[in-house]
Amino acid sequence: MPGLTLGDVVPDLELHTTHGNIRLHDFVGDAYAIIFSHPADFTPVCTTELSEMASYAGEFERRGVKLLGFSCDDVESHKEWIKDIEAYKPGRRVGFPIVADPDRAAIRQLNMIDADEKDGGELPNRALHIVGPDKKVKLSFLFPASTGRNMAEVLRATDALLTAARHGVATPVNWTPGERVVIPPGVSDEEARARFPRGFDTAELPSNKCYLRFTQVD
Ligand code: BEZ
Repeated sequence: MPGLTLGDVVPDLELHTTHGNIRLHDFVGDAYAIIFSHPADFTPVCTTELSEMASYAGEFERRGVKLLGFSCDDVESHKEWIKDIEAYKPGRRVGFPIVADPDRAAIRQLNMIDADEKDGGELPNRALHIVGPDKKVKLSFLFPASTGRNMAEVLRATDALLTAARHGVATPVNWTPGERVVIPPGVSDEEARARFPRGFDTAELPSNKCYLRFTQVD
């Protein structure tokens, strides 16, 4: 059976976390949520990633986006590990919950398993799913244990996703907030004139096909 992917509803798992027990759908609620996994507690790359996520937590909160970490190992281990993470770069507080998943039941259902990483059992990869208020996966990153993620890119991708959803647009390569967005192919020029009061520019291309249209949204 193929694993969880874009457009799938995440399973409504009961999860044990450093903030107590939660149900995944209740946790997401009416918001967007980022769920992101780590191979194990007290490992170097994971420690740097969680420290960095802690430093970005305020940015996600300002956007109404919730954070939920995952690591195999139990809650007591997570709580000890958080002391290391917070000491590594003082001033960064891990204020978001981290799920304990010692039997790997949750990460298996969330398609966060790395077949190449084993410690006697299966280990999570560095998976990251952005889940929408409809509980569907909107965006996923999948990195191996050896390669730390770029949290600035996670924030940029979140902004792109939220902008696309709010305005019915798409974002071009390397887009950052404030830059021009593109009008999706399914929108006619007539509809685009009605929907985008600031107008739009169409790139002139050798094909003479008018598919690359830029507009500005707030
Ligand atoms: C790490 O977080 O550093 C790590 C964890 C598992 C395998 C390799 C690296």
